[in-house]
Amino acid sequence: MSDNKNNDNEMDHEYDGIKECDNPLPRWWLITFYGAILFGLGYFFYYQIGNGPTLAEEFKENQVAHSKVRDNYLEKLKEFDLAGFEELYKNPATIQYGESIFVTNCQACHAEGGKGDIGPNLVDDYWLFSLGTPESIYPFLLSGSQGTGMPSWSDKMEKDELLAVLAYVLSQQGKTYEGAKEAEGNQWSAWYPGMPPRF
Ligand code: HEC
Repeated sequence: MSDNKNNDNEMDHEYDGIKECDNPLPRWWLITFYGAILFGLGYFFYYQIGNGPTLAEEFKENQVAHSKVRDNYLEKLKEFDLAGFEELYKNPATIQYGESIFVTNCQACHAEGGKGDIGPNLVDDYWLFSLGTPESIYPFLLSGSQGTGMPSWSDKMEKDELLAVLAYVLSQQGKTYEGAKEAEGNQWSAWYPGMPPRF
């Protein structure tokens, strides 16, 4: 703080006992001021004169990224092959592979075996978002549930990984775990390969 009492910068201007001083501006203020000018120049030359993207171009870029995610989703969604899934399901190696994927990606929320924690219980025969069948759970894995913790997996996993983890989840049907989360949703009898479609 400058001491205004015996200030060399005092000007010849007084009103009501208040004297005007011509003090230098504080350094932080000057740095901010000149910094803003420099930033403004840089911004102007990059966006107006140089080849910085326009808002429309930035929008287009985002659209392209967005449609990539959507195409990925649609690609994986189409033609869920139930017969193919049943073949996979009957292979113990698939279930084992699915379990390793589950432990790495799902267990944090669905707890051991899928007994439920942050995410719902996956071993009981109650389902919130599906009919408990592979063809109805699969799209939910792809989309996830916006606003809750369940991520969308369509752009995070390959199709064979998704099918394997789905096979593991279905293979857990009816298992009992200590401290399992209470049932939520509608009750559906456990799915098995060869089961007639529900609808
Ligand atoms: C960050 C936490 C989190 C992770 C990781 C997670 N989930 Fe979920 N999951 C949830 C939540 C929360 C819900 C409930 C969504 C809601 O209520 O909208 C849910 C719902 C589900 C459901 C629907 C259950 C029902 O009753 O219909 C399935 C199936 C499921 N998750 C499977 C998985 C699989 C498989 C993985 C791993 C690939 C996984 N989740 C990873 C949090 C998670």
